Amino acid sequence: MEKLPYLVESQQLSQELIFELFKRADTLRKTPSRTLYGKVLATLFYEPSTRTRLSFETAMLRLGGQVVSTENAKEFSSAVKGESIEDTARIVGAYADCIVMRHYEDGAAKRAIAVSKKPVINAGDGRGQHPTQALLDLYTIYREIGRVENITVAMVGDLANGRTIRSLSYLLGKFKGIKIIFVCPQNLCVGNDIKEYLTRHNVKYSEETDLAKVLPTADIIYMTRIQKERMSEEDYKKSKGKYTLNMESLKLVKPNSRILHPLPHVEEIDFTIEAEENDKRIAYFRQAENGLYIRMAILEHLLG
Ligand code: CP
Repeated sequence: MEKLPYLVESQQLSQELIFELFKRADTLRKTPSRTLYGKVLATLFYEPSTRTRLSFETAMLRLGGQVVSTENAKEFSSAVKGESIEDTARIVGAYADCIVMRHYEDGAAKRAIAVSKKPVINAGDGRGQHPTQALLDLYTIYREIGRVENITVAMVGDLANGRTIRSLSYLLGKFKGIKIIFVCPQNLCVGNDIKEYLTRHNVKYSEETDLAKVLPTADIIYMTRIQKERMSEEDYKKSKGKYTLNMESLKLVKPNSRILHPLPHVEEIDFTIEAEENDKRIAYFRQAENGLYIRMAILEHLLG
């Protein structure tokens, strides 16, 4: 089986490798493993994170490895003194066996892999990509729906700034019978690079404005947050609260469909805690948990 030297974008993942990682994630969920004993993971986060950083760090610890971390690298690493991404990657690579990096600039992870002697994992670069999120999203679809082909996926919210949208679209483009419906405020529509990629890969897509019309047709409803931090106040005001799922709109969702969200969510999700706990269609907490096992499988793949 092919072995990746690093993971910066979804396009690197072949169907064969995707299913291999799913299988390994399923095993790691059930069986403790210490395959990375003696290895050290460095997590460099220049942007805030709860899920990605903590699940990567937990994954490494559960596999018997150790972790060094800078959780606010923008302020507390030598970036504040003007050190370049390239220098930081080379230095940290001399201490650790693998680097997980989140950065506010598109292309930051590619700059790191260009010089790093150790595997680099892109944990989100600006508006660019978030490939491990896409992989855990697809793994969740696979576990919840039982297939990753012949599905209709509605992607809803801030499609202009969402790196998870790009990475997931690129990953879905590898499978047959996928239909994507983009639902977004007019000022936050999906980028032409994604549309061109989908066209090249024969993926059907459409753009809709009426979420209520889309909900009964989708197998997966992938909600996203309006990324206030990546837009002007004016754009935020135009788009805030435009698309929300609540107890009323949940009635339009098919019984076997699933609602996913990369999280964190704000007002675009407005369900009761009781519904979140009991309605199997609401799958985003299981999705976040799946991230742990998928990231264990990825770390093993790159470091094992
Ligand atoms: N989904 C995601 O990347 O979450 P965090 O920002 O909390 O890591």
